[in-house]
Amino acid sequence: MILLSISIFWLSVCVYPISADPHITVEAHVGSTALLPCSLSKDFSKTPHVRWRADNEFVFERSFDGTHEGPGYKGRVDVPEDELRKGNCSLVLKDVRITDHVFYRSFVMEHVEATNTNKIQEINRVQLNVVQRVSAQVGSTAVLPCDWKHLSIQTPHVEWRIGDEIVFERLGKESFQGEGYEGRVDVPEEELLKGNCSLVLKNVSVTDETLYSSYILMTDTKKPVLVQNIKLSVRELSEERKDDSSAPSGEADGMNLLIIITVCIMCSVLLIFIAIFIWMKYRRSSS
Ligand SMILES: *[C@@H]1O[C@H](CO)[C@@H](O)[C@H](O)[C@H]1NC(C)=O
Ligand SMILES: *[C@@H]1O[C@H](CO)[C@@H](O)[C@H](O)[C@H]1NC(C)=O
Ligand SMILES: *[C@@H]1O[C@H](CO)[C@@H](O)[C@H](O)[C@H]1NC(C)=O
Repeated sequence: MILLSISIFWLSVCVYPISADPHITVEAHVGSTALLPCSLSKDFSKTPHVRWRADNEFVFERSFDGTHEGPGYKGRVDVPEDELRKGNCSLVLKDVRITDHVFYRSFVMEHVEATNTNKIQEINRVQLNVVQRVSAQVGSTAVLPCDWKHLSIQTPHVEWRIGDEIVFERLGKESFQGEGYEGRVDVPEEELLKGNCSLVLKNVSVTDETLYSSYILMTDTKKPVLVQNIKLSVRELSEERKDDSSAPSGEADGMNLLIIITVCIMCSVLLIFIAIFIWMKYRRSSS
């Protein structure tokens, strides 16, 4: 069933290359290898000329001439030649970085015609969703990392959101804390000015476990630019307590003592019974 749906997915990608769903989203964690799927609907005897770009930035190119990697992608990208000849134009993106997400709305794969290099056909669009995991304990303070140093703006205006809901917002001295987060969230002004838009979330509760996204609003257009996706997972205290109870040796020793005393009492009772038994047998045989 899963195989079937996977093959249907591949079919839908390759049979209608031009009308392919532009909303393929690939989720990848920081540091992992992402595979951006793509398929050309035929086999090639000669290596076809393909190009991946991220909006207007050049990412990777392969042709009979060899390969080219875009700046920022050196040593991290490939479309293996043997796969490409089979029509598999998927991009392998190693060591996924937060910045692979930041600037681009989507990765685009293009096929360049061999006979006429001006004839470029768009094959596929893939969105890459880069997520970083953070884990925190109930009641503790979590720091959700964020860094906007690579963006060229003067006055940082940061927004942390869960979907459309605003959790925290800061522009200079002015800040806003979302409902349910009053008194618990902050991006310190001096940190923000230094390029650090990390969210400090105090007194973490189980209900805080979700996906947080940080945005920097462009000074002129007020257009939000996604900076960071953080998946916060919250560890419950009860789990910790269970772990803790087995750890301290004091309680373990107490347990051992209890076992020793029980065994001693049982042995004594057994000895008394044996003694009574022997004594009765002795009395019976002597009478
Ligand atoms: C396409 O190629 C990639 C590696 O480049 C591979 O991981 C993937 O499994 C291939 N997909 C298919 C459908 O063969
Ligand atoms: C960024 O700010 C957070 C909290 O404000 C802090 O915990 C963290 O150490 C800062 N990171 C850097 C790299 O300065
Ligand atoms: C932390 O949050 C819990 C509810 O989730 C609340 O009962 C408690 O008072 C809060 N503690 C502090 C120090 O704010």
